[in-house]
Amino acid sequence: MANTVVVGAQWGDEAKGKIIDCLAHDKDLVVRWGGGSNAGHTVCVGDQEYKLHLVPAGILNGNTLNVVADGVVIDPAGIVEELTSLKARGVSCTNLKISGNAHVILPYHRLFDQLEEKRKGEKAIGTTGRGIGPAYQDKAARIGIRMRDFCDPKIFPVRLAQILDIKNEILVKLYGVEPLVADQIVEQYREFALFLKPYVDDTALVVARAAKSGKSVLFEGAQGTLLDIDLGTYPYVTSSHPSAGGATIGTGLGPTQIDQIIGVAKSYTTRVGAGAFPTELLDDTGNLIRERGREYGTTTGRPRRCGWLDGVALHYASLVNGLTSLSLMHLDVLSGFDEVKICMQYSFDGRSIEDFPSDQERLSRCTPIYKTLQGWKDDVSEAKTYDELPENVKKFVETVEKVAGVPVTILSVGRRRDQTIFRPYSKKISGSPSLS
Ligand code: IMO
Ligand code: MG
Repeated sequence: MANTVVVGAQWGDEAKGKIIDCLAHDKDLVVRWGGGSNAGHTVCVGDQEYKLHLVPAGILNGNTLNVVADGVVIDPAGIVEELTSLKARGVSCTNLKISGNAHVILPYHRLFDQLEEKRKGEKAIGTTGRGIGPAYQDKAARIGIRMRDFCDPKIFPVRLAQILDIKNEILVKLYGVEPLVADQIVEQYREFALFLKPYVDDTALVVARAAKSGKSVLFEGAQGTLLDIDLGTYPYVTSSHPSAGGATIGTGLGPTQIDQIIGVAKSYTTRVGAGAFPTELLDDTGNLIRERGREYGTTTGRPRRCGWLDGVALHYASLVNGLTSLSLMHLDVLSGFDEVKICMQYSFDGRSIEDFPSDQERLSRCTPIYKTLQGWKDDVSEAKTYDELPENVKKFVETVEKVAGVPVTILSVGRRRDQTIFRPYSKKISGSPSLS
């Protein structure tokens, strides 16, 4: 199908980067629609590992045009460093366009992010500290600086001076820290602006025209549905729209032009930062999943909280994104367990519920009701087809399909590109989170 959205179906870190890399080869454009360098997408090509934060994973695929769209918030220092290191490793970065409308993250955004987290104390969100929330706050307040203005040496110093007047008052009076000096920031960021200017374009038009002329677009999701500012587990969320609808905001394509929406989910669940997590395992099993799955943040290095697959949350993600299929990741990590579990319902105030409560207050009162399945001892990492997988893996996959209500069409059994099983599947599944 032509235009495909790849969306995180959990709390981020679902290995979206790998799937984008696998699907990009026959796409004309890869478009990143939201988030910033809070994202960490790891892609393995041969024996090379790439950790991407802002540059779309399609950059590793030769001819694909990569677009950083309007909804992304860009840390100039971060993207310059990423591009420089990609070029040093022989990756051509000429096929990249950055939206002139994308907002820029400046030193005060990072500072506010960190100061605000400190001020919240025990109630801290556990953000990545990359200035994401404050940058989106300024965008909504209409005091942000966009990429095109940032790259204009006449406009940037004027806009920055105006904004710093307000920001410095808050820094000094509320947080009791030193004010920032506009000239120093202008000086420090001049090089970044010069470096980035050639990439800046009206990307919504580029994408819209490409699609109109029959080119295919792959949308690269960052974060995950449960971190969406509306649909996610507010207030423990990010400040953007990682869910599928976000792909049609500020990118140049409308909802009618999307052909399929692939949700990416791990075979278990992880979460970084604070907030309710019903299937979290605070025991040896959780530790084992963390070690086997190398569950440490790509962006911050933090150990990820780990637990069994949450089918109730997955069902929710499937519904609210309108998923057409699922990509089930890290199946190899579950090899070796005597039994594996999938949460099919929650126990809430003494009754069983199937609907995911997306607010912190109710979700924190939910405990999982599991379906226990037999595990598999076999190494699945070299399986090339679905049929080669052990029966117990297939039962696991079928249970995932049932609870999510969509077919699993891609399975990942390792980090390499060739450790991916594509499974054409058209059967209609009418699933729901039930134990039967
Ligand atoms: P990828 O694209 C996992 C989480 C943070 C924190 C919350 C808010 O790699 O899946 P923020 O810095 O965005 O204000 O933090 O969101 N978070 C992620 N967790 N993967 C990500 O991205 C994330 N991006 C943000 O840990 O709980
Ligand atoms: Mg990540």
